Amino acid sequence: MRSWCVITNEITKEKLDFGTPSVFPTVSVIDPELMLTLPRELSIYQGFDALFHGVECYIATCSSPLAKLYCVEAIGLVARWLPNLWRDGSDLEARTNISYAANVLCGFAQSLSATISPHIIGQCMSGLFPGFVHGASLLVTAQAYYSHVISKGYIAEEFETLGKAMGKSASAGCKGTNFLEGLEELMSETGVSGLPMSKFGVQSSDLERIAGISADIGFDFDPYPLSKDEILSILIKSYK
Ligand SMILES: [Fe+2]
Repeated sequence: MRSWCVITNEITKEKLDFGTPSVFPTVSVIDPELMLTLPRELSIYQGFDALFHGVECYIATCSSPLAKLYCVEAIGLVARWLPNLWRDGSDLEARTNISYAANVLCGFAQSLSATISPHIIGQCMSGLFPGFVHGASLLVTAQAYYSHVISKGYIAEEFETLGKAMGKSASAGCKGTNFLEGLEELMSETGVSGLPMSKFGVQSSDLERIAGISADIGFDFDPYPLSKDEILSILIKSYK
């Protein structure tokens, strides 16, 4: 339930999104029972997509107090229930909570805010490599991306709040590092630590192109403006 769409130009290999109130659905059918036979990996990848929708919509410069309420609730539910889904794909309570977080809470959050550079970089990769599952395209750079942004000291308080939403107590060191701990733990608990982008066809020689296209698209709502060199550095650090 959101006012955003994604469209791929298969000729130019661009995967871009656009938003307008006129695409907001009148009715959405979200039935977790229909998702019980979804492959486990896909369920986990898309659970992380919901997590990153919450994180990005929270820290975006266009966010708002109401959007942030939806984001924090969604992030907490994904952190709480995604490991259950990894252990048992037929866990209907887990599927219901993840669906609610992904489709209702994050749908409203995205309609009040916007996703930012991680989605642009991820969609650039999955535009060039159509088999690159959307949630996976966000996962492969997540730790390097958020480590980089938090290390710059930007919006540390916001990341500290998101770390707490993931069930992590206050950071012992730099503020916001509890979010990195929560992310690392959730990735470990759901079997996606070290997910390689090469699994989806990306070669190291593609990274410069991905960084260039992402930088050209631009990041209108990023709290920390990434340069092309920083994007490339994050991609190189992430590459497996
Ligand atoms: Fe997404």
